[in-house]
Amino acid sequence: MMWPVILPLLALSSSRGALSFRTPSPPLAASSSSSSSVRGGGPHRRPPPSPALVASRPLSSSTRVIRSSSSDAEGGADNECDCPTTIPPPPPPSDDDGGPAPLQPYLPAFDPKYPVRGPVGGGKFVLDRRGPPSIEELSNDNMLLIVRSECTDLEVNTLVWKCLGYRFDEEAERWDDAEVFPRWRENYPDPPDLIGMRRVYSREVDSPSLKSNQSLVRSIPQENKQSLKTHLKPLGWKGYQYKELTPNKTRRAQCANWLIFYREELFGYTVEELTERRRIKREAEDAAAAEARRIIDEGGEGREAAADEWKPPVKEVF
Ligand SMILES: *[C@@H]1O[C@H](CO)[C@@H](O)[C@H](O)[C@H]1NC(C)=O
Ligand SMILES: *[C@@H]1O[C@H](CO)[C@@H](O)[C@H](O)[C@H]1NC(C)=O
Repeated sequence: MMWPVILPLLALSSSRGALSFRTPSPPLAASSSSSSSVRGGGPHRRPPPSPALVASRPLSSSTRVIRSSSSDAEGGADNECDCPTTIPPPPPPSDDDGGPAPLQPYLPAFDPKYPVRGPVGGGKFVLDRRGPPSIEELSNDNMLLIVRSECTDLEVNTLVWKCLGYRFDEEAERWDDAEVFPRWRENYPDPPDLIGMRRVYSREVDSPSLKSNQSLVRSIPQENKQSLKTHLKPLGWKGYQYKELTPNKTRRAQCANWLIFYREELFGYTVEELTERRRIKREAEDAAAAEARRIIDEGGEGREAAADEWKPPVKEVF
């Protein structure tokens, strides 16, 4: 069976402006309660918030600005969401009928507070907005929920943000970048929307997500690019069919792939340890490359094999 292509799709949508995808949007889980499973054991850890502090701040105070349905924010007296006033028009209707309704912009995600107040971890997906990532949050079960679209875009983003080192500051209600991997932080002092939570695929709205997805993918070395296949196929995930390659699905796949790479290669190490490991690996690679060049230059046997050794450049987050 062909392992489906998770790759090229977005080039298409970004050049054509808003596309209509023909799947209904699931309602967002309303509950924001979650058990605290903050654990240590990763890079740049910080102690979890004190339980007293946590208990005194019910997360449900956030519900004012979060709308669970896109229809009630279209105007109307009861709309008190802080959404920007210029909400793009819905995508044009698609020509063939009989299928599910075309994709609508997801209005709650237009609220600037959505990344800090939108509900996460209330359903099957194990996630706490607070603290560093835990091994439970990085389980293959969670990864399956990501690729099967059984958790929200915000939950996927939130988990990747935590792994990149952003830490939720409950008091200030913002994401703090002090512990973010240094090279990533240079470009992203604020946590980027890696999926396109608003589900508007026009160039202006989508290009930051497109870019951050590319940065994330570029940080994965060649030998870890197939993490989904390696880790999720044995659990029964068959990959995506070509026809379901919508931006949010492929980007979910990219995020899950990166999260597994993070779990296997970065989780639990300090930036200093990672940097040292990279130095050693680069030395070995440089030596191998020099040897390959020698073989190619001398035109001897093994020339093609040596040329195949070439690897695309990696731009690590650390
Ligand atoms: C992903 O996009 C599809 C359409 O492309 C949409 O129907 C679906 O609701 C989105 N999924 C999530 C979890 O955001
Ligand atoms: C994400 O970035 C990768 C690497 O540039 C690219 O191949 C892929 O098409 C992008 N996916 C989406 C959905 O933007």
